[in-house]
Amino acid sequence: MTEHIMGNGVPIVATQLVRNFGETVAVNQLSFKVHAGEIYGLLGPNGAGKTTTVRMVSGLLPPIEGEVQVFGFNPMTQPIEVKKRIGLVPEDHILYESLTPREFFNFVASVRRLNQSEVENRMLSLIDAFEFAEYYDKPIATLSHGNRQKASIMSALIHDPPLLVLDEPFSGLDARTVRVLKDILNIHLENGGGILFSSHILEVAESLCDRIGIIDEGRMVAEGTVSELREMVKSHGSLEEIFLRAVQQDEEVAETVKALRKALAKNTSL
Ligand SMILES: Nc1ncnc2c1ncn2[C@@H]1O[C@H](COP(=O)(O)OP(=O)(O)O)[C@@H](O)[C@H]1O
Ligand SMILES: [Mg+2]
Repeated sequence: MTEHIMGNGVPIVATQLVRNFGETVAVNQLSFKVHAGEIYGLLGPNGAGKTTTVRMVSGLLPPIEGEVQVFGFNPMTQPIEVKKRIGLVPEDHILYESLTPREFFNFVASVRRLNQSEVENRMLSLIDAFEFAEYYDKPIATLSHGNRQKASIMSALIHDPPLLVLDEPFSGLDARTVRVLKDILNIHLENGGGILFSSHILEVAESLCDRIGIIDEGRMVAEGTVSELREMVKSHGSLEEIFLRAVQQDEEVAETVKALRKALAKNTSL
């Protein structure tokens, strides 16, 4: 990672972000920072506003209020500066179905005007790590969900970006691939890059993230390291307990599980 590409050196500063869709307030006054060498996890239940936040950070969606800075650049007004520095793995992979991964990566590399041989070297080591060789020349339309996810991750890494933005990147990956992706993320951090990561899977965030922001209904309800979050809710339990407490759903979930157990017990006795 070269110096000039680092801009002001701070991967993400998000300030008071607001975004609605009609009546629905998806993100509400959300502020957070991601520092260089840090992996920051946005954690929250379905519909909490994670994907909307990721899209605003990446310049795919304008905030109604507030501002994002990526290495000091604004994703809406300076999209080229920002796209150079971000590797995005979106929730829904936008890949070209009729191309093979090889063709798709070449296409991305040429649009980004990257050095072809550097790209090939980087891709070869990723293909090796992901055991992807046999899918490299098959149309993307024929790939399984997990292999598309691998292709999406690889295409995000093509230009060696200093910031990775990953929306639920572990969904649908097998244990080996999860391990490989974790290693890739750790190497990225060791090289001084930053990572924004979203998940509703608590164990993954707990084991991976330097800091976690718990969001619910578009608002930040708690933020800190895992141990700081523990301290905050005066709990020594797992992050799952912290998470549920923070969003005040623990009693609600217990009730739901109780009701579910009753309903399922009835069904099996039929
Ligand atoms: N394009 C959209 N149009 C309408 N509503 C949306 C759109 N995108 C997201 N939402 C709504 O915004 C809220 C937050 O969604 P999202 O950011 O996708 O949450 P998460 O990724 O945490 O599951 C949800 O209520 C969702 O239904
Ligand atoms: Mg989402």
